[in-house]
Amino acid sequence: MTTRSTLLLGLAFLATSAFADMTYYVVGYPDTETGSFGVQIDNNGPITKLVTSSSTFPLWSILVPGVSATTPYKYVKLDPAGNPIVFESFTRSLAVDPTAIQTAYEVFDREVTDMKVPLVPLVYEPWEMSKTKIFDDGVIATIHLTGDTERWEGILKAPMEAQPMNANFRYINDKLVHSVDNITIAVSGKSSMEFNKQAIKLEFDTKANQTFFSRPSIKLRSESSDPTMIREKLYIDVLNAVGVPTQQGAWVRVFMNSKPVGLYLMVDDIGNSFLKQTVHHGDGGVVRGSLWQMNAPEVDRQGDLKYLGPTEDTYPKDCYKMKTLGGNPVTAPMTQLIQLMKSLEDFKPLEMNGGTYWESLIDVDGFLRNMAMEYLAGSWDAYWWSGSNYFLYFNPSLGTDNPPKGKWQWISTDFDGTFGDGDPTDTLTTYQAYADFSKHDRPMITKLIMQSPDLNKRFEQTLKDIVSYAFKPEALFPRLEAYEKMLEKDVAWDDSIDRSGYPGKTNAWT
Ligand SMILES: *[C@@H]1O[C@H](CO)[C@@H](O)[C@H](O)[C@H]1NC(C)=O
Ligand SMILES: *[C@@H]1O[C@H](CO)[C@@H](O)[C@H](O)[C@H]1NC(C)=O
Repeated sequence: MTTRSTLLLGLAFLATSAFADMTYYVVGYPDTETGSFGVQIDNNGPITKLVTSSSTFPLWSILVPGVSATTPYKYVKLDPAGNPIVFESFTRSLAVDPTAIQTAYEVFDREVTDMKVPLVPLVYEPWEMSKTKIFDDGVIATIHLTGDTERWEGILKAPMEAQPMNANFRYINDKLVHSVDNITIAVSGKSSMEFNKQAIKLEFDTKANQTFFSRPSIKLRSESSDPTMIREKLYIDVLNAVGVPTQQGAWVRVFMNSKPVGLYLMVDDIGNSFLKQTVHHGDGGVVRGSLWQMNAPEVDRQGDLKYLGPTEDTYPKDCYKMKTLGGNPVTAPMTQLIQLMKSLEDFKPLEMNGGTYWESLIDVDGFLRNMAMEYLAGSWDAYWWSGSNYFLYFNPSLGTDNPPKGKWQWISTDFDGTFGDGDPTDTLTTYQAYADFSKHDRPMITKLIMQSPDLNKRFEQTLKDIVSYAFKPEALFPRLEAYEKMLEKDVAWDDSIDRSGYPGKTNAWT
């Protein structure tokens, strides 16, 4: 009888106050190898030390009995003897979810783990791509790399000559730890190499069963020229809202051998895996077509798409770079692209119907939307202004059977020089006056957008659609403000990293 009533009392007690066991998780690097982290329950309550392991570091955890999700807590950095060195300056609680029995994977000294970021209103139906966990807009994940310190320092000290190295990789977001041994790391980028913070490329060898949530080829963009580190991501957000296939992006904090490397925007590398996961919606059965990357290594040498004759050797190799052969002969990989340039040369905008002519050759809507964004966001280092920074992909599955399936798709890239950053023109003018074509023609703009009456009309409608729904302060500022709040501490952290031992400019923002 006594036993029974005690048991009932106990149950009643549990039901009313919901005291249970909570597991706390935090990502953090202690100041010394034997330092650690603790969690302080209740303001000024006892501190419980967290533990980590070689398979989870720098994620620490501990189960604390007899507390509820609503109990306030904060994390504490501990010295090797277990004494507190740094308390978080704010108090946490899981009051929003009183039934929780564990925290998310939180980050030391970062108050918000998963920011609610307002969405950009959709202008057109979004481009469907395969799902992945790694591009979560509101979460800044941690990338923990371990590898040969000397190799890594050698790469940072001489990035121009650097060879790729192998390293072990760990990705920790708000709810998972994903570790892969022996991935390949290289520095990447062109203009980013002028700065002492290097852009990085990560390659996962899928043949050796290395995986990264179906995105095995990743770039970490340094955003050295952009003090906000937001522009490129915001541009991607608007491209998503206009329904074109594009690289996705999310911010990550990167560490090598527990030393800070920096805050980066992680984006898709445009290659075979991107084509499958993004352009072809994750369908691995599609035989991929031809992919070309266009650049302007100098002001006068541009990927302008001007027809220069039927043979490849007349086209500058550093302006036109083949990424995927597709249906072209091995001995003449540029065949299809040259045909496109010939069609552009043959196009008579005043005599022909532009829509009819181009619809069988390219995804016209996608092209117009990409160009509208170049103009609206002042993406000066792109096709319209510079003949640079885009890909053309011959998508064999686009179109109808008659004419035969297959069309070119425009894929823009590199959006750090947008929203006024580095813009050589100080004011945004009309689109007609935006770029000067007198010295260097870019016929996809002059012939299609400027001179073809029907395509011009479609372009203007595209501009109107984008500015009415997405490209306006009411639509973008709430998102921008959320990003600012979310990144504030991490941008300051990135700026505080001493890179003076490496060649290149420092982005000394204050
Ligand atoms: C790591 O990967 C490289 C190729 O990228 C390979 O040559 C090497 O043997 C691998 N090392 C280990 C320990 O698996
Ligand atoms: C990859 O995994 C598959 C299936 O588990 C296995 O058969 C294969 O041997 C693995 N390959 C390598 C290179 O480890």
